[in-house]
Amino acid sequence: MKRRVLIVDDDAAILEVLEMRLAAMGFDVTATPEANKAMEFAATHRFDVALLDLRMLPLDGIQLMEALHQRQPRLPVLIMTAHGTIETAVEAVQRGAFDYLTKPFVRDELRSKIRRALAARRWARDRERLLTVGETLASSGVMERILDAVAQAAVETTEAERSVVFQLTAGRLVPMASAGTPPPSWPALEAAASQAIDKGAPTMVAGQEARVIVAAPLVVQRGPVGALVIETPGRVEPTEDDLELLALFSSQAAIAIRNTHELERLRSGALAALGRMATQVAHELKNPLAGLRLYARHLEQRLDRNGDGDSADLARKITSSIDHLAAIVSEITAFGRPPELHRAPTSLGALIDECLTLAQARCPSEQVEIVRTYDPAAPEAMLDARELRKAFLNLILNALEALGGQGRLSITTQCAADRKSITIAIDDDGPGMNEETLTRLFDLFFTTKPEGTGLGMAIARSVVDLHGGELTVQSALGNGTRVRIRLPLGTPSAGAGA
Ligand SMILES: Nc1ncnc2c1ncn2[C@@H]1O[C@H](COP(=O)(O)OP(=O)(O)OP(=O)(O)O)[C@@H](O)[C@H]1O
Ligand SMILES: [Mg+2]
Repeated sequence: MKRRVLIVDDDAAILEVLEMRLAAMGFDVTATPEANKAMEFAATHRFDVALLDLRMLPLDGIQLMEALHQRQPRLPVLIMTAHGTIETAVEAVQRGAFDYLTKPFVRDELRSKIRRALAARRWARDRERLLTVGETLASSGVMERILDAVAQAAVETTEAERSVVFQLTAGRLVPMASAGTPPPSWPALEAAASQAIDKGAPTMVAGQEARVIVAAPLVVQRGPVGALVIETPGRVEPTEDDLELLALFSSQAAIAIRNTHELERLRSGALAALGRMATQVAHELKNPLAGLRLYARHLEQRLDRNGDGDSADLARKITSSIDHLAAIVSEITAFGRPPELHRAPTSLGALIDECLTLAQARCPSEQVEIVRTYDPAAPEAMLDARELRKAFLNLILNALEALGGQGRLSITTQCAADRKSITIAIDDDGPGMNEETLTRLFDLFFTTKPEGTGLGMAIARSVVDLHGGELTVQSALGNGTRVRIRLPLGTPSAGAGA
């Protein structure tokens, strides 16, 4: 892409000469003798460098430069004059000019100053870009914040009017962060984002009022996770630099998204499992330790009674060591304890629908018949939606994974006659489970899937247990699987607290 140069000089002869020379140097030249024409061009084009004559009416070169800088703050400006004095040169530079050119031009001076101006602009942008990238990486890994920084950096360095980071969530494009002015049309940005995702490469499309929308896909190993989109001001065409920057920022955003996913996976998977395992081990140690302590106390008292002070001291040492162990064990138990429930009025139907959407986004289900039968009489209940979401999501995923893309999944909710509990049934007509799978179903890390972690069922059961409910599974090879969950209904008015 050619670099764009704006030349403003009220001397027609000079204007013509300059235009020819710069065109010969390979620039895309816009030349005008009038300051207001120049402002009009600047409203619709973005220039890489401007050459402005100092002495002009009604605006002189410095005033025009300041007006141009309002539109494009980092535009490098070279001020030209035939009557140069050191004072005017200094003033021009102080007020934001990049450099100063004296007429008549020396060919090499013109060339080298323009080249320097262009390089400096690049350099300024590169430095800024590196700074942002560095800060982004150093920030604490909160995805929203990183995406905000990426959106902001994209707007600032490409001088776009706005930028939006979309994330692909459950098959939908969700705007996660934005910078600049609010978009006049979200669908246009979204369409550009999905085009870029489909193509797997940066895409340019026309926006409203001659704006240009550029979208770059955010790609991680698994594939696209979203898109970074910028929209330029009217009639401003993005340069190669802009595309380069956009590609850089989009890889940044992709890394942020990937890291967050990894972290979430770790948190919900391995770490939680380790915590639970530690708890189980600690729990197993608790009773024998209590027994040991009792025996040691007995021994201590007996030896005291028999007047064997030295041996009694030894026994006391055993007791205190046991106390120390018991303290460690109870610390571990507290650490790995399942989360406390945060109950709030929850509509089960809506929650299940949400899990269904999430599960369908992860697992192919176009040919799965999904039958939902929700009890219209089911009231909102005091449940922990966040915890239950994990449970339902895992169960629905298991069903869809069992179906392998074909069959029938039915989800039913049924309120008990006394309205004190609700039963949720998740049935699939997949291959079902054999005896061994059925008995080991809730074991941590038990899985029959190459990519499975074997945690889904254990998580689901612990969440249901925490709610004081019950989870049962019926399954036989060739006969599908039925999962039943009965949850006691704390109604909002009853205000069940924990
Ligand atoms: N609806 C089902 N139909 C058939 N088999 C099932 C079903 N649900 C669970 N299973 C069996 O139980 C095993 C354990 O399920 P669980 O959800 O705990 O782990 P996973 O699905 O293998 O891995 P992940 O931790 O990713 O969920 C599965 O590997 C599968 O063999
Ligand atoms: Mg599972």
